[in-house]
Amino acid sequence: MCGIVGGIGKADFRNFVISGLKKLDYRGYDSAGIAYLLDGEITVVKTAGTVEMLDEKVSAFQGASMAIGHTRWATHGDPSEVNAHPQWSEHKLVYLVHNGVIENFRALKTRLKARGYRFLSKTDTEIIADLLEFHFESNGRIFLKALEETMDDLEGSYALAIMVSGDERLYFAKKGSPLLLGSGDGAAFLASDCVPMMGITKRFVDLNDGDYGYLEPERIALFNSGRQIRPVFSERKIEDFDYDLRGYPHFMLKEIEEEPQVLSRLVDNYFDPETGDYLFDKSMLRAIREADEIIFLACGTSHYASLFGVSFMEFMGKPARSYVASEWAYHPVCLSKRPLYILISQSGETADLIACQKIINSEGRPNLAVVNVKDSSLARRATYFCLVYAGLEVAVAATKSYIAQVGLLALLLGALTGSSSPVRHIEGLIGGINDIIARKGEIENLAEKVYQSRDAFFVGRGDSFKAALECSLKLKEISYIHAEAYPGGEIKHGPIALIEENTPVVGLISDGATALPLRNNIEELSSRKAATYIVAPASLSAKGDAFVTKDIKPYLQSLLNVVFGQYLAYYVSLKKGLPIDKPRNLAKSVTVE
Ligand code: AGP
Repeated sequence: MCGIVGGIGKADFRNFVISGLKKLDYRGYDSAGIAYLLDGEITVVKTAGTVEMLDEKVSAFQGASMAIGHTRWATHGDPSEVNAHPQWSEHKLVYLVHNGVIENFRALKTRLKARGYRFLSKTDTEIIADLLEFHFESNGRIFLKALEETMDDLEGSYALAIMVSGDERLYFAKKGSPLLLGSGDGAAFLASDCVPMMGITKRFVDLNDGDYGYLEPERIALFNSGRQIRPVFSERKIEDFDYDLRGYPHFMLKEIEEEPQVLSRLVDNYFDPETGDYLFDKSMLRAIREADEIIFLACGTSHYASLFGVSFMEFMGKPARSYVASEWAYHPVCLSKRPLYILISQSGETADLIACQKIINSEGRPNLAVVNVKDSSLARRATYFCLVYAGLEVAVAATKSYIAQVGLLALLLGALTGSSSPVRHIEGLIGGINDIIARKGEIENLAEKVYQSRDAFFVGRGDSFKAALECSLKLKEISYIHAEAYPGGEIKHGPIALIEENTPVVGLISDGATALPLRNNIEELSSRKAATYIVAPASLSAKGDAFVTKDIKPYLQSLLNVVFGQYLAYYVSLKKGLPIDKPRNLAKSVTVE
């Protein structure tokens, strides 16, 4: 994964790199580093820690003419200072930062070792620096050519920013990992996404795989497959990138509480109240109608959102399935003749999903990307794309983007069936979420009872099982409590053996048909001395329930269970004193397979 930034020309590069890396640390935050060119000399500072720690370590400097920076999510080699980027070549000709994975690095390392190169780190990145140096020394010292030759050698994914001793250009290359260029006033920049460059430039160049070249302060030289190409500029609006906590202690809390506003925005963007028409691309709706099967692909929270998509499609009589992207990519099963794929991803950069999209595109099949980032890789390569308008989501734990994804799928259902009811139902959902926000103190009290537990279970039936999956993912990722989700009826087929005295079990009720059997399941667990807590809508609630939600339309009801689970995870993590927005070992955008 990892985030990279770089720039050349007239700019405050200390500030640009450090603040840029802070904005990119959703891509990983286990080590960080910077290299800058000042008075003809390249200085490198690295830390086996966060960007904040790097900030403390880098001395104040001004007048640098070029800099690169990196925040890392370790793939090869532990998160130590020696493995942090920038990495450099044997003779300190090349300094570079890398996002991606070099699959053939062992073979290349052996080749380089045979030529006398020695390696300091355990990374797959260091070999790129050495390869560049090797080709440069062998080809008559032409760096652009060395870059082309190195790209030919590399298998895997990379976004690279490269500084070369004695060279006044900042080189770059991209394959498989995201990279954007930005053109400023007397300076040029690059970064893994546009956020570090917002406010400095409004003109961006989205790079395609195989693109490479160099930046000069007033010039972008772009190449692909040996030919120079003209950069295509696009603009981004600064208001789309709200990085302010706005008084909240954590982004996760802020983002949960933005959910009502996110749903309103979604409706505003996809429904015209004057005409009663949905505003989806008509050819996309036609393609969905004509498909004989809908296949949803996604990972993590987005996968759990896609489970609602399956139910919505089935409701309108359309066969549908959902697969975890990393599984389907290696077993791309499709039993229908005219499938349409719906790829759901907050970031639009998830490598497992991009791997699926490559297969789908190579077969010429239509695919719809449901994303939260307009210019993301998935969106750009999809046949159709829909934005979920959740706004920038900073906390690693997805919250508002999940609600927006399911909201979008509900609106899509409305558009496909020609019914405006989902718009009204989403208004009901907004009311239900506002009610939970007003009563979050009750969930905080409940967290007090749960936070010291080693294990926790979420149990549901039907839609509330889908909610249970998401609640357990939220709890485990930010509180590090081992959490599982089970369909109520399955518990006694094995998992019940795990129940000990006071093991917390949260029973999630969302519909009348399954309320009673679920209560019976929870009762069975109470009898085994589990500490059970039931969450139910008002009309299905009973004395002693732990939390009561508002009654809304049954097919959206279990989203209120999820909001409950988001708060529960938040407060448990808070009580444990954990880094809520940046849990250990995780990154917001998972750009390695
Ligand atoms: C969510 O809380 C997780 N951090 C993670 O499961 C995430 O949903 C998953 O990595 C998919 O990301 P995407 O939506 O950006 O594709």
